[in-house]
Amino acid sequence: MTTLGTPLSPHATKVMLLGSGELGKEVLIALQRLGVETIAVDRYNHAPGQQVAHHARTITMSDPAQLKALIHAERPHLVVPEIEAIATPMLEELEAAGVVRVIPTARAARLTMDREGIRRLAAETLGLPTSPYQFCDSLAELQAAIDGVDGVDGPGIGYPCVIKPVMSSSGKGQSKIDGPADVQQAWDYAMAGGRVGAGRVIVEGFIDFDYEITQLTVRALGADGQVETHFCEPIGHIQVSGDYVESWQPHPMPATALARSRQIAKTVTDNLGGQGLYGVELFVKGDQVWFSEVSPRPHDTGLVTLTTQVQSEFELHARAILGLPVNTALRSPGASAVIYGGVEAKGIVFDGVAEALRVPNTDLRLFGKPESFAKRRMGVALAFDADVEVARVNAKLAASKVKPRAV
Ligand SMILES: Nc1ncnc2c1ncn2[C@@H]1O[C@H](COP(=O)(O)OP(=O)(O)OP(=O)(O)O)[C@@H](O)[C@H]1O
Ligand SMILES: [Mg+2]
Repeated sequence: MTTLGTPLSPHATKVMLLGSGELGKEVLIALQRLGVETIAVDRYNHAPGQQVAHHARTITMSDPAQLKALIHAERPHLVVPEIEAIATPMLEELEAAGVVRVIPTARAARLTMDREGIRRLAAETLGLPTSPYQFCDSLAELQAAIDGVDGVDGPGIGYPCVIKPVMSSSGKGQSKIDGPADVQQAWDYAMAGGRVGAGRVIVEGFIDFDYEITQLTVRALGADGQVETHFCEPIGHIQVSGDYVESWQPHPMPATALARSRQIAKTVTDNLGGQGLYGVELFVKGDQVWFSEVSPRPHDTGLVTLTTQVQSEFELHARAILGLPVNTALRSPGASAVIYGGVEAKGIVFDGVAEALRVPNTDLRLFGKPESFAKRRMGVALAFDADVEVARVNAKLAASKVKPRAV
């Protein structure tokens, strides 16, 4: 039996979000609706999720001492990572000591915080199909990985290939290259774009996929108290420079490719374990499916589920982590389109909101980020329609009518 408390009372059920961006904000709203006491943590003040939580805390989450002190001070029942750049070994320590439960598990947070942990688990331990890859610590190693050294490392990754810092997201520091002339530039770009732990890159063979999907996968308790795996309808998406600009659900797929996608998703989430929602990123060509990466939390392309599903990915995550039942049913096909800041300024305004919402069956989320950058995601337009292609057109139309402006 799951018992939930009253917030701000001695019997509150307390949940701490580590990272309080637009995805965390929606998880926090879902938790608020269940009367959970929420603590929104971020690296800067007035982060989106901090604006809707009971408590807002600002720390450097990659600093183990700060993280430990905050968790000891707040004593949440659950810690829910929303970003990758967290001192995950400290989370493992606190989880092992029984201080806190980490969602989905501290190990999952550690393995997915950089590309190496999860890629080696998926390809080498679980034997899942992935792009060919190598990890490199210098330009010389990178060139050798691409060229291959006869008899040592096999044939080499070759061209085209994709180079990414081991620690980065949203395509930062990532480039696709077509020949030897581009290697130096890709290395320099990765060095400039990586986060903590810079200096190491993954080089992957380029997969010439037909399309890519996110398979949202939920591990939630059944009536018998055992974890059950639930799948959402596949989400199609388009990435520009490694950052999602548009997503839709469902993405039509042949039965074999869908079954393979779910088998891969089940294998990797079974291993990572715990309770909660995962976003499994897959590349598809015909009936062939490759595992790309996985988020042990709601996925940005899953923002579309705010309009398409009976329970959005954020509600599914909130329910699953609390031990509550979930419903992954689709309500209507639909789409999402990203609204970028376009300007570099603090406290911007948005013109055209009414015009956007006059597009049939649309909705908006404006995240409330205190500062805009040209390529910062400031909001998203949502649209539903019986025809997913109509929804895509309407979501993009609504997004285009919202005009961020510096004042
Ligand atoms: N090996 C590859 N072959 C073909 N395309 C690739 C490959 N690796 C990455 N991409 C493209 O670049 C996109 C971003 O790559 P990836 O998901 O690894 O980076 P990311 O920075 O973690 O992005 P995000 O944080 O937005 O998920 C992919 O969704 C895909 O469109
Ligand atoms: Mg990705």
